[in-house]
Formats: sequence, C-alpha cells, structure tokens
Amino acid sequence: MTTTEPFRNVVLLPQTNQLLGLYTIIRDRLTKRPDFIFYSDRIIRLLVEEGLNHLPVAPLTVSTETNQVFQGVSFLGKICGVSIIRAGESMEQGLRDCCRSVRIGKILIQRDEETAKPKLFYEKLPDDIANRYVFLLDPMLATGGSAIMATDVLLNRGVKEERIFFLNLICSKEGIDAYHSAYPNVKIVTGAIDKGLDEKKYLIPGLGDFGDRYYAL
Ligand code: PRP
Ligand code: URA
Repeated sequence: MTTTEPFRNVVLLPQTNQLLGLYTIIRDRLTKRPDFIFYSDRIIRLLVEEGLNHLPVAPLTVSTETNQVFQGVSFLGKICGVSIIRAGESMEQGLRDCCRSVRIGKILIQRDEETAKPKLFYEKLPDDIANRYVFLLDPMLATGGSAIMATDVLLNRGVKEERIFFLNLICSKEGIDAYHSAYPNVKIVTGAIDKGLDEKKYLIPGLGDFGDRYYAL
C-alpha cells in the first residue's frame, strides 16, 4: 500500500504506528468531515514541522536564566507558503500555526475532471518571493501535472528550485517521477507514497477527492 522505498529528494515521514493510525482514519470512506479535518490537520502539522527541518540555520549562543551558555541555532532566511487552491488551502493554517505571520501566496489550478489535465486560472504571490524559501502546499500529488504547473509559476517568478519544498499528504510513484523529471531539485516532503492511480487518475488506495472531503462539497 505505502512504500518506504527511497526516492532521491523525497522525504517520507517516519512510518510510525501513530502516523499509520492517522492515515487509517482519513483514508476510511466512513470517516465524517469533522474527523477528516482534525486528523488531516494533524498530519499537515507533521509535514510542516518536517519541512522546517530542512531550512538552513546559523549557530546562535544564548545565556539561560541559570547563567549558563546554550549553544543553539537560529533560522536563516525568509519563508512563505504557496497553496494550490482549493485543496492546498487546507494546509495554510498548519503553516501559520508553526510560523507566525508567514506570508501566503495562492495559485488556482484545477484538474479537468475528464482529462485530469491541470488548468491555471490565477496566481497571487508575494513580490519578493524570489528571495524566500517556498513551502508549496497541496495534499495530493497524483499525475504531477498540477504541481509541475504551480512550480512553473514559481520559477517564472525567479524562485530557485532548491528553495522550494513541496509538502503533500499522499503522492504516487508516477507523480514523483513526473514531478522530479521536470524539477529534480525540489524536495518533496510527504507522509505516504501510494501504489498508483486508477483510470480516473485518482490515487489508490488514496482517500478520494481531498478537497471535497475537507470542504464538504
Ligand atoms: C487535486 C489536488 C491536486 C491535484 C493532484 O486538485 O489537490 O491539486 O488534484 O492531481 P495531479 O497530480 O494529477 O495534478 P483538483 O484539481 O481536483 O482541485 P481541488 O483542489 O479543488 O480539489
Ligand atoms: N486529487 C484528489 O483529491 N485525490 C486524488 O486521488 C487525486 C487528485
């Protein structure tokens, strides 16, 4: 069902029983919307925390209340989130919970329901995005078409591939391959790699339409 095979530039969350339990709930077709949201949000938080682990830091020494010296680190560089509307917006709060007053841009891409090909409708991004690390947010990576299109937009705005971290809940092997054929230097941070896609290009076993389940449409 879910693979732990290594892929270059893919960070798979540790496949603990805790994580498996969360995925079991959100994949279950009988799970109602409030639980779907609650447990998806828990996974999103783990993805954001893992993404933050990959940002550069510099050494920082502080004095503690016990008059000791603590040798720690401080984060370097500015970040922003970019969500692929609609489903990606579900991940914005998880990023805000970890990074207060983080800037969030949006790209509206929708898959055609017949062909599964993505169409770009709208983008609104921070003016200085080229100088930021970008957390690209979308819970599902199926064929890879939507993520590739969103990444095209980011690169056209001057963002370097190495500064993009694509956070998603479930991806397919073909989605990873397609995405990394286009953009090998973007790091994908995910919690599950599913075995494939069905004839409608939905992830299997997957969880169905993430946006419909999160936003109850
Ligand atoms: C879903 C999902 C991704 C895309 C993944 O969005 O959120 O954006 O499909 O599929 P792909 O890898 O084959 O491109 P969808 O277009 O269904 O819109 P939604 O966010 O409104 O659900
Ligand atoms: N989008 C979804 O929401 N689910 C899939 O399985 C594929 C694309």
